[in-house]
Amino acid sequence: MLNIGVLISGGGTNLQALIDAQKTGIITSGRITLVLSNRKDAYGLVRATQNGIKTQVIQRKVCADNETFDRQLLEVLRAHQIQIVVLAGFLSILSDAVVKEYPNRMINIHPSLIPSFCGKGFYGLRVHEAVLQKGVKITGATVHYVSDIPDGGDIIMQKAVDVLEGDTPETLQRRVMEEAEWKILPEAVELVCRTWKEKGLDCHE
Ligand code: GRF
Repeated sequence: MLNIGVLISGGGTNLQALIDAQKTGIITSGRITLVLSNRKDAYGLVRATQNGIKTQVIQRKVCADNETFDRQLLEVLRAHQIQIVVLAGFLSILSDAVVKEYPNRMINIHPSLIPSFCGKGFYGLRVHEAVLQKGVKITGATVHYVSDIPDGGDIIMQKAVDVLEGDTPETLQRRVMEEAEWKILPEAVELVCRTWKEKGLDCHE
């Protein structure tokens, strides 16, 4: 079983989907052993605690500078022997130093069909506002490896969702979460964990 670290900033509904997927046997090749948030009020921390998962908070504003934040984050991930890092609603951009520590072992969920509506400034509701503004009829979610380019890493999995007449950014966000994010993130986490497990990356590396 690989040690999974989940990074969050907010409500943690994607984290909840991962926790539920462990219970229902969708995720069997890894287990969430740490939830780390850059915000102390993130409700995802409550979800982790309710499920007996260790939590840590590292606030960028408390750190002297970005390098200190990144160093502290890496120290925590190493201390918990994290092997697979999942960014689930994590709204802080990680430096190359952190990303390079987890080549093809750090993944992110983005609420659009990359390469559309992604990159700098496209996060949360803004993505869905842009989708409605453009008038596309299909949107969805993407799980991809994290690289040094925001939302630029290789794509692992995608799922399409219809844009409906009368959709607001809120109704569209909810549908993309329910019909796409909460389904493909657990499946992608299991796929990545199983791939590394078969390569022999076990709990002691
Ligand atoms: C969601 O819009 C998700 O697409 C994005 O972050 C937002 C919050 O997700 N990754 P969560 O409820 O905190 O998992």
